[in-house]
Amino acid sequence: MMSLPWVLVIVLLFWYRFRSYFRCMLERRSGRLPPGPWAWPLFGTILTIDRRHPQKTLRKWAATYGTIFSFYLGERFCVAASDMPTIRRLMKDKRFENRCHAGMIMHLDGQFDKSIIMGNGEIWREHRRFSMAALRDFGFSKAGGEEQVQNEAALLVAEFQGHQGRSFDPKISIATSVANVISYMLFSDGFDCSDPRFRQYEETVAANIAELSSGTPLEIFPWLRFIHPFSVQFNRIQRRFKYCQRPMMDLIQEHKKSFDPNSPRDYVDAFLCVQEGRRRTEDSVGTYTDEQLMRNLGDLYVAGFETTTTFLRWALIYLILHPRVQAKLQGEIDVVIGSSRAPTMTDKAPMVYTEAVILEVFRLSDFLPFLIPHCATEDVQIDGYVIPEGTEIWPLVTYHYCNAKVWGDPQVFRPERFLDDKDQLLQSLADEIQPYSTGRRACLGEPLAKMEVFILLTTILQHFTISSQTTPDTEHLPAFILAPPSFEIIATPRT
Ligand code: HEM
Repeated sequence: MMSLPWVLVIVLLFWYRFRSYFRCMLERRSGRLPPGPWAWPLFGTILTIDRRHPQKTLRKWAATYGTIFSFYLGERFCVAASDMPTIRRLMKDKRFENRCHAGMIMHLDGQFDKSIIMGNGEIWREHRRFSMAALRDFGFSKAGGEEQVQNEAALLVAEFQGHQGRSFDPKISIATSVANVISYMLFSDGFDCSDPRFRQYEETVAANIAELSSGTPLEIFPWLRFIHPFSVQFNRIQRRFKYCQRPMMDLIQEHKKSFDPNSPRDYVDAFLCVQEGRRRTEDSVGTYTDEQLMRNLGDLYVAGFETTTTFLRWALIYLILHPRVQAKLQGEIDVVIGSSRAPTMTDKAPMVYTEAVILEVFRLSDFLPFLIPHCATEDVQIDGYVIPEGTEIWPLVTYHYCNAKVWGDPQVFRPERFLDDKDQLLQSLADEIQPYSTGRRACLGEPLAKMEVFILLTTILQHFTISSQTTPDTEHLPAFILAPPSFEIIATPRT
């Protein structure tokens, strides 16, 4: 039998190892921390959370514990907000502007904390500011960007026409159009749908996004990467990640050969201008290194095409499932735009029904169910709770978007819910949908994303009626960005 001193030593070691867990669980009981489901030391809620679809469990917890609740993801202590006023308040709070660095992603590349999406502090601020300014010059501003999106929309129409009424999977054509828009702004180059390099890049990115789902064991316990068989999975993800970095570095080196600081062509040139300027005046490029440029490009490129492509695929699915909505949307296109010219962003304001359809697709597709979680930079007092520094903050739009108290019939696809009896947009209800988040960390690509969503969608429906031989499945695939299962469409030209 173990002697008493040994038992005490073990208890003390256990207490020391899990002191943060015990403190949080006690503070929950005393009401200093938000309530939440029972969690085990080390394992957290691993036995109760749906690991393929964590959003399903999170929605159940939100229904049980209310607007603000806490939960453990492994050893990660998280606080979730599940209604829009609270989500907006937390996302706008400077004390919650950081990203958390607890999951597996940080181990893929030792420098992930320097990226725009995952970075914090000065380096994030500097490169976010630079990227927004550079992209404003090379595409986010209405004129240049709009033309670029219109060109890609026209190519997409030609691509759809090429299928001559036969059934096809639109994913790669849509992904190519969306990727080309951002490619031209970043490095003045684009892809062809049939280019095997692009297909491979797209498939590699999509495969990693699928494996980076928040509920996977590797994401919850990153130390599993040292243990078989998780090490195999980790190495696979890391290999794909490195594979995606290589073309970015090649592009930078290519660009340098034709770089003229007096006439910057795109984002890469704008970055090289700052790099060159710093080298000349300060003798150090600071954070404007080639590696940083490669990281920024990767972030903007992946964030820029996977989200928008996923939105458009969900939009096609809901329009196939609801032909009446599709016909009404086409009716609005016919009245406002007609058939002889390309849609522009000036058309957007009067096209209230189209806006309602876009909002309803965002709501029901729910493809970013908790946006991208934030992290507390210090202890923060909110609603009577004291949220400790380092706590992950999860904006659960997934619960808000299906809350019957807000929407009445949340499972029904009904764009009309966003319109009043004079067919005007109910702005207060539209504001309940925040796909790009809000505050300092809000989506950097929002102006471009809005342009792509509107122009690509209206151009497709201006030229085609979309249908399918089979009923598309609306069950999410498990992933970080929740894409639909593959589906095929028939694009019938409108006469
Ligand atoms: C439908 C399309 C899109 C959606 C729904 C979307 C949504 C989001 C969301 C929810 C975030 C996290 C905001 C937060 O943490 O509070 C985000 C961040 C980001 N997005 Fe987007 N996005 C879209 C398109 C784009 C495009 C086209 C680009 C690039 C040009 C882009 C670049 C970024 C970047 C760089 C960040 C990280 C910002 C930061 O951490 O400071 N996104 N996006």
